[in-house]
Amino acid sequence: MTQALALAGLSSGYDEAVVLRDITLTVAPGEILAVLGKNGMGKSTLLKSIMGFLPKLAGSVALEGQDITRLPPPRIARMGIAYVPQEKALFQDLTVAENLRLALPGRARLEVALDHVARSFPFLRDRLAQRAGTLSGGEQKMLLMARALSVDARVLLVDEISEGLQPSVITRLAGVLAQQRSAAGRAILLIEQNLGFALEIADRYAVLDRGEIVDTGPAAGAAARIAHHLSV
Ligand SMILES: Nc1ncnc2c1ncn2[C@@H]1O[C@H](COP(=O)(O)OP(=O)(O)OP(=O)(O)O)[C@@H](O)[C@H]1O
Ligand SMILES: [Mg+2]
Repeated sequence: MTQALALAGLSSGYDEAVVLRDITLTVAPGEILAVLGKNGMGKSTLLKSIMGFLPKLAGSVALEGQDITRLPPPRIARMGIAYVPQEKALFQDLTVAENLRLALPGRARLEVALDHVARSFPFLRDRLAQRAGTLSGGEQKMLLMARALSVDARVLLVDEISEGLQPSVITRLAGVLAQQRSAAGRAILLIEQNLGFALEIADRYAVLDRGEIVDTGPAAGAAARIAHHLSV
């Protein structure tokens, strides 16, 4: 089977500092892989590197069997990888509608995308004219997720979506992610520190420790074995 996303021997980092070493992992279509690890272990660096924001020092990245290692971020996005960054990367002074429109490829219609994302986040319909910067923290996270879902990506990269959210919002997001996996067959690489949330919806996990994958396995029943990788 062709993997949706395949990293082979990937090393990456910032200028002189190598942060990720020899990362090999795959995500199949319709699969959620949770990448877990403490602060500063390289989780966000991994997603930035996949998206092409950081130079790859070694190794390769393939999307549905096609090599994308050297492509720039806009090409990678257009080829089918959607990215929900950890920081609230919205245009704060633009409206909800404008933020959604900017994520869409040229000819796509906002109304169509909106119908699609409003199924997961109905509140957005009533907030189209509100400035994104005035949404609550949880609402901004949902808008970030909606923006990623408004393009029909095969792979979804999600960076600590549960951070700072109340349990009911986390439950809602878990439902949206599970639906994206099952109904749309998307491959999801989910960065998390919330072990309960991650293992509940993931199929497999990988633990990142100081830039290296130190453990992988099926998510079911893994909590007790890997909790020490996350507790400070
Ligand atoms: N722009 C940058 N320039 C130099 N070093 C950086 C830069 N961004 C991150 N780093 C370093 O890379 C390492 C990994 O950072 P990264 O943001 O990937 O960690 P993380 O696992 O996402 O942590 P957190 O859970 O806190 O989000 C850290 O030591 C960090 O200081
Ligand atoms: Mg991070």
